[in-house]
This record gives sequence, C-alpha cells and structure tokens, in this order.
Amino acid sequence: MDRMPHDDLETVRLAFREGMAKLAAAVSIVTTNGPGGLAGFTASAVCSVTDTPPTLIVCLNRSSSVAAIFDRNRSLCVNTLASGREALSRLFGGSTPQQERFAAGEWLPGKTGAPRLTDAIVSFDCDVESSVESGTHRVLFCRVIDIAHGQEDDEALVYFRRRYHRIR
Ligand SMILES: Cc1cc2nc3c(=O)[nH]c(=O)nc-3n(C[C@H](O)[C@H](O)[C@H](O)COP(=O)(O)O)c2cc1C
Repeated sequence: MDRMPHDDLETVRLAFREGMAKLAAAVSIVTTNGPGGLAGFTASAVCSVTDTPPTLIVCLNRSSSVAAIFDRNRSLCVNTLASGREALSRLFGGSTPQQERFAAGEWLPGKTGAPRLTDAIVSFDCDVESSVESGTHRVLFCRVIDIAHGQEDDEALVYFRRRYHRIR
C-alpha cells in the first residue's frame, strides 16, 4: 500500500482526493429557500451525527456560488437521489444557473420552505443550528425537523471512483 507523503501539500491534497474517490457515498441535492433566495447544490459530504436530537452535517464549499444563500437562510433540505437521477446530480454540481437546475425536477415546499424533491429516496428538512469552518469548507450542523420517504423499491445512487453506480 502506498504511504501518504508528508512533505508536499499538493501531493498530500491529491493523495487525499484519490483516497476519497474510493469512499462510496450517497448523492444528495441540498436545497434552501428564504430571505437569501432559492439555491441548491449536489453534495456527497452528508453524514449522520446523532439521533438525539436528530442531526446531520453537510459540508459546503465556502467559495461556491450558493454558500452566501445558505448562510442567510439558515434552513435546508437534504434530498437523497434515487438511481436514474445522474443528470440532476450533474446539473446541481456546478456552473448551471439556479432556475435551470430546479426546472429539471419536481419540487414541493418542505416545512422550512426549502424545496423537497418529490422522487427523492428520502428528504430531511432541517434548521441549520450552527456551523464550523474547516479549510475551504463550512460544516453545517442541521437539526432534522421533518422527513419524507420515497418508494419502498427505490434504488440508491452512489458515487464511487468518480462514477455513478446504482445499488438495491
Ligand atoms: C457527486 C458530487 C458531489 C459533490 N459534493 C459536494 C459536497 O459535498 N460539498 C460541496 O460543497 N460541493 C459538492 N459538490 C460540488 C457542488 O455541487 C458545486 O460546487 C455546487 O453546485 C456549487 O457550484 P457553483 O459554485 O458553480 O454554483 C459535489 C458535486 C458532485 C457532482
């Protein structure tokens, strides 16, 4: 097994990215709507923290076009994608105007007002309770206030080795 060198920051960064490409992850569209406006982005950096109280974290790049909108709104909805939604993931993955991103899906307002994707496997509507900055990213601690479930036989969309896969 190759060891991670410690003397060159760029080498370490690339080694980390190569390592993380092997960590299979669910793909979610994280949305928000409020005084800051409407926004959404694709995220694989979503993780459970605790069920008491129900809390998850979302890691958001501070330099992304949506970061200021999430900062302002302080609420969001994590919509976990079913297989077959690769195109939506790419669309929300950057560089596309927000209206164009949302036009590609069907949405209903959740309790917080954040758009809930109607064909998501599961959607977590959340208040953002706090955040911590770490390097280029902001870690958002999200208190789940409502959950909507998709169909029992939904297949999951998973990102692994920089490609999309489906699992039952
Ligand atoms: C599969 C996938 C996973 C991603 N995961 C994250 C993530 O967890 N956090 C993040 O800040 N950006 C993530 N991105 C990138 C954002 O979706 C992208 O930066 C965001 O849409 C903002 O882009 P913009 O600045 O062009 O609007 C991911 C993109 C893809 C395609």
